[in-house]
Amino acid sequence: MVVLSKMKRAGLVGLAIFIAQVVARVVPEHATIVDRTTASTTTYDFVIAGGGIAGLTVADRLTEDPNVNVLVIEAGPFDQGEDAVLVPGAYNPFPYLWPNLFTVPQEGLNNGVYFALCGRVVGGGSTVNAMIFIRGDKEDYAGWTALGNPGWTWNDFLPYLEKSETFTFPSAEFAAQGNITWNASVHGTTGPVQATYPDYFFPGSGNWYEAAKYAGIAPDHDPNDGSVRGVYWLPLAEDARTRTRSDARVNHYDRVIATRPNYHLLPDTSVSKVLFNSAKKATGVQFVATNGSSTAPTTVNASKEVLVAAGGLHTPQLLQLSGIGPKALLTKFGIPVISNLPGVGANFQDQPTIPMTYNFTNNVSPNWGSLINNATYDAEQYALYEANKTGPYTLVRTLSTNFASLALKDITPDYLDIIKAAAARNPLAYLPAGTDATVAAGYVAQRAVLLAQLAAEAAVGGLHWNTDTTNTMYSFKPFSRGTVNINSSSILDNPLIDYRTATDPTDIAIYTALLKKNRQVMAAPSMAVLGPVEDAPFGSSVTTDAEIQAAILSVMSPTNGHECCTAAMMPQALGGVVDTNLQVYGVTGLRVIDISYWPFPISGAPSATMYGTGEKIAAVIKAKYGLS
Ligand SMILES: Cc1cc2nc3c(=O)[nH]c(=O)nc-3n(C[C@H](O)[C@H](O)[C@H](O)COP(=O)(O)OP(=O)(O)OC[C@H]3O[C@@H](n4cnc5c(N)ncnc54)[C@H](O)[C@@H]3O)c2cc1C
Ligand SMILES: *[C@@H]1O[C@H](CO)[C@@H](O)[C@H](O)[C@H]1NC(C)=O
Ligand SMILES: *[C@@H]1O[C@H](CO)[C@@H](O)[C@H](O)[C@H]1NC(C)=O
Ligand SMILES: *[C@@H]1O[C@H](CO)[C@@H](O)[C@H](O)[C@H]1NC(C)=O
Ligand SMILES: *[C@@H]1O[C@H](CO)[C@@H](O)[C@H](O)[C@H]1NC(C)=O
Ligand SMILES: *[C@@H]1O[C@H](CO)[C@@H](O)[C@H](O)[C@H]1NC(C)=O
Ligand SMILES: *[C@@H]1O[C@H](CO)[C@@H](O)[C@H](O)[C@H]1NC(C)=O
Ligand SMILES: *[C@@H]1O[C@H](CO)[C@@H](O)[C@H](O)[C@H]1NC(C)=O
Ligand SMILES: *[C@@H]1O[C@H](CO)[C@@H](O)[C@H](O)[C@H]1NC(C)=O
Repeated sequence: MVVLSKMKRAGLVGLAIFIAQVVARVVPEHATIVDRTTASTTTYDFVIAGGGIAGLTVADRLTEDPNVNVLVIEAGPFDQGEDAVLVPGAYNPFPYLWPNLFTVPQEGLNNGVYFALCGRVVGGGSTVNAMIFIRGDKEDYAGWTALGNPGWTWNDFLPYLEKSETFTFPSAEFAAQGNITWNASVHGTTGPVQATYPDYFFPGSGNWYEAAKYAGIAPDHDPNDGSVRGVYWLPLAEDARTRTRSDARVNHYDRVIATRPNYHLLPDTSVSKVLFNSAKKATGVQFVATNGSSTAPTTVNASKEVLVAAGGLHTPQLLQLSGIGPKALLTKFGIPVISNLPGVGANFQDQPTIPMTYNFTNNVSPNWGSLINNATYDAEQYALYEANKTGPYTLVRTLSTNFASLALKDITPDYLDIIKAAAARNPLAYLPAGTDATVAAGYVAQRAVLLAQLAAEAAVGGLHWNTDTTNTMYSFKPFSRGTVNINSSSILDNPLIDYRTATDPTDIAIYTALLKKNRQVMAAPSMAVLGPVEDAPFGSSVTTDAEIQAAILSVMSPTNGHECCTAAMMPQALGGVVDTNLQVYGVTGLRVIDISYWPFPISGAPSATMYGTGEKIAAVIKAKYGLS
């Protein structure tokens, strides 16, 4: 559980609190953390709604120019430097997840209601996530570009992905023992995000690696070099010197605050509305205390731009509350329409997961279970980490070190049948009732791109064994589409979150094939020797496609915390919300810079691409205003 007493950031937190007190009393110019009164009486060039990956990356880069003032408003608090946040092996996201955030009943999942995974803390998802730090495949970014978005190919992106990171490689000796390979030519050496591999692996990961190879999955030299396909070590957003989490608060806030009197941050505060003048230029925002303690709205001015960075679930909510969204929805809640954009809150996606648990009759120790079930071993390993920054605590709790990302042709030899069946379906048949015609046209265009990707090399699914009792299967490129829509006119009420997971039969066909591939890996000699026995609802009697599908739909999670795509970058005729510079259609002075801009998810996890996005869009903004 969470060890609140371990205050690894005590120094910085103390400093920040001290500064905040000084500021509240005297000189806002030298502030970093500000209160609401100070914020509302200061004029900023840029106000950023949301202090997650995109928000803090852009704030850091813009404030490199000492003449620019930036305010970040973040709904959540600062973390307290707990082990649960900073120590990979003690990972526990719950203290900083958005509380009481639930879905509507999920029609594709037996009408179940699910907890929606989302960070609410300075650092956003990077503070609560599982630290996996992988980019997309070249084909992902090419697919975005094909939807009418020039400037977003792998070659356009790579300089910013490199700029974002400092990647530290292991010794040749350790790499050889662990089968770790990499492509140094695509990695950054001076960027703010510290990335590396753990410095330990459980012995079972070798059994799984052998089994993956036996099942025809080739090693991937480096998943971050534009080709994500095969079995590889998971790179982590971990600092190789301290062996702690490198989150956006650490790498784009703590790292620079001492030298940035122009970088202000207002925590525990929710932006409730973007304000516009009569020419529809964004002029500032309205905000309220997140805990409702003072509901009187306050405003702050932004002389240049408002940048929305509230994440895939809350950006559509904030835009809709501000009069940017589907006209009928806005009118229902009495919100004056500033820009009628039916795509706001549509095209909602995540990367759902399927857990599968086993009893092993002969598992190899130590494994993650040893830390959880054997207090002596756990204490030894924690002491080793504290003293020498090594051992299992350098791994993310519950995750092993290796992972397999698979193209559809790697998952099943029958992949062409899945593609043929998908192509034969009416693309509009599975969209939410009442989907706007432009949004539907955008989906038809996306589907053509996705069908081409299913036939190509980029990964569409993932397999993982945590060395203890759990396998997880990942779906990277869902065909199903959901919605995020306001349910009231208050930012303090949750939006209606409808993932609509598994509503398109193509997704179910891919999950089923993934599950069979997982069984193939687990049946390979090096895993079979460990005696895995599938737990319910799986098991040796679950064999037909119908039985497998029913079991999958009963256990799967609609979210991996990768909610995206609710304010998509596409032409307006395709239901797009932002242009290729992430500017919102129909207004000026407003961009959406968080993961909401993605047209569809990539063959991996989001955070590396979101740090790269922050770097890229900060360069665009600096160029526009001639900033240094
Ligand atoms: C449990 C979990 C595990 C994950 N694991 C991984 C992983 O291993 N690897 C990986 O790459 N990705 C992972 N992710 C996903 C990744 O962290 C996110 O996709 C990423 O952080 C998105 O970046 P962002 O800048 O778009 O938004 P975020 O980082 O989510 O930031 C949005 C911020 O806006 C704030 N906010 C929301 N509404 C308002 C408002 N009205 N006013 C002010 N502030 C507001 C939120 O509190 C939040 O801090 C995980 C996510 C979760 C939740
Ligand atoms: C914010 O803008 C409003 C309207 O232009 C103006 O009245 C107010 O003085 C501004 N506040 C600050 C702190 O600049
Ligand atoms: C490394 O590869 C060898 C040869 O395939 C295998 O025997 C060993 O288990 C692997 N170890 C790990 C940690 O992957
Ligand atoms: C390294 O990455 C570059 C850029 O994607 C690629 O051209 C090259 O083939 C990669 N090298 C190896 C050894 O995979
Ligand atoms: C609400 O949050 C503020 C910080 O923004 C804090 O000072 C206050 O004590 C909180 N009130 C309640 C009732 O939790
Ligand atoms: C628990 O861990 C200790 C220390 O590593 C080890 O000596 C002991 O055998 C383990 N106990 C069990 C039941 O595995
Ligand atoms: C840390 O490493 C040193 C040198 O290898 C070793 O002597 C010591 O026992 C280690 N500490 C722990 C807690 O294992
Ligand atoms: C939506 O609002 C209605 C009416 O206020 C409320 O009863 C319902 O619980 C809300 N739904 C969610 C998911 O918050
Ligand atoms: C796995 O082990 C648990 C606990 O011992 C037991 O309850 C369960 O029935 C077992 N499952 C199978 C499939 O053997």
